[in-house]
Amino acid sequence: MRGRCSRPRMMSQNQKSIGVFDSGLGGLTVLREIHRQLPGENLIYFGDTARVPYGNKSSATIIRYSREIVRFLLARDVKAIVVACNTASSYALDAIRDMTDIPVLGVIDPAVRSLTHKAKAGSVAGLIATKGTISSGAYEKALKGNHGSQQLISKACPLLVPLIEEGYAESKAAELILRDYLEPLAAAGTEYLLLGCTHYPLIAITILRLYPQFKLIDSAEETAIELRTLLSDRGLMRDAQAASVELFVSDMTDSMRALQQLFFQSNVDKFEVAQVGDDH
Ligand code: DGL
Repeated sequence: MRGRCSRPRMMSQNQKSIGVFDSGLGGLTVLREIHRQLPGENLIYFGDTARVPYGNKSSATIIRYSREIVRFLLARDVKAIVVACNTASSYALDAIRDMTDIPVLGVIDPAVRSLTHKAKAGSVAGLIATKGTISSGAYEKALKGNHGSQQLISKACPLLVPLIEEGYAESKAAELILRDYLEPLAAAGTEYLLLGCTHYPLIAITILRLYPQFKLIDSAEETAIELRTLLSDRGLMRDAQAASVELFVSDMTDSMRALQQLFFQSNVDKFEVAQVGDDH
């Protein structure tokens, strides 16, 4: 029609979605927290369920997978990316930041910043995470970068992810395994314990039952707080009452549906398979 502008209207930056990804569905603990703290934001999540776990893979593989997923999110024109996976945050943040100018937030720095604010200088802090995250030294690096003087004692806990996914987070088996992992940290005088893996908020109750003296730092919560500040500082906040949550996974089985409920604990607008790949 004459006189009417036929050019498609560009979506303003703050109306766009936030992209969040993880090696699988554990990152839904981070998504849930973002959704709780920023209910007006549209969220697009990618869980690499065909290739999970990342926690015992090489850095080159983790970087390649992460780049493939980021390409998927960038194709959906997201305004910011949250790397919900601790293992991917440990290895792939620089590679991701090289791909885009939009803000990219990992889960390690927010957790470490919270530790440096809360814990006394020179005190002992514990870190539990996957083997990959622990051997990357990413938390130590982040602590140094944030001028933290706390002494970090870390422990890889590879049995916790399968235990939690199989519904054993509050079982006797979990208690036995946790004691084995956490006793040295308790003996060293740990006050704050960093939960350095997407899954661990689900085992927090059992940890506190065994070690009530620990104060837990949950990276999901801290990351959502920093994301809110980042969006607000850059004028990127979407001021709306309602928003959509869309989940994409690289493989779908019945157990993925169960994990979606376990980690996100409410319904989503979309939950479907999408392929990523060919990082050339
Ligand atoms: N999402 C991973 C993390 O936070 C845990 C599961 C995995 O090993 O891929 O490190």
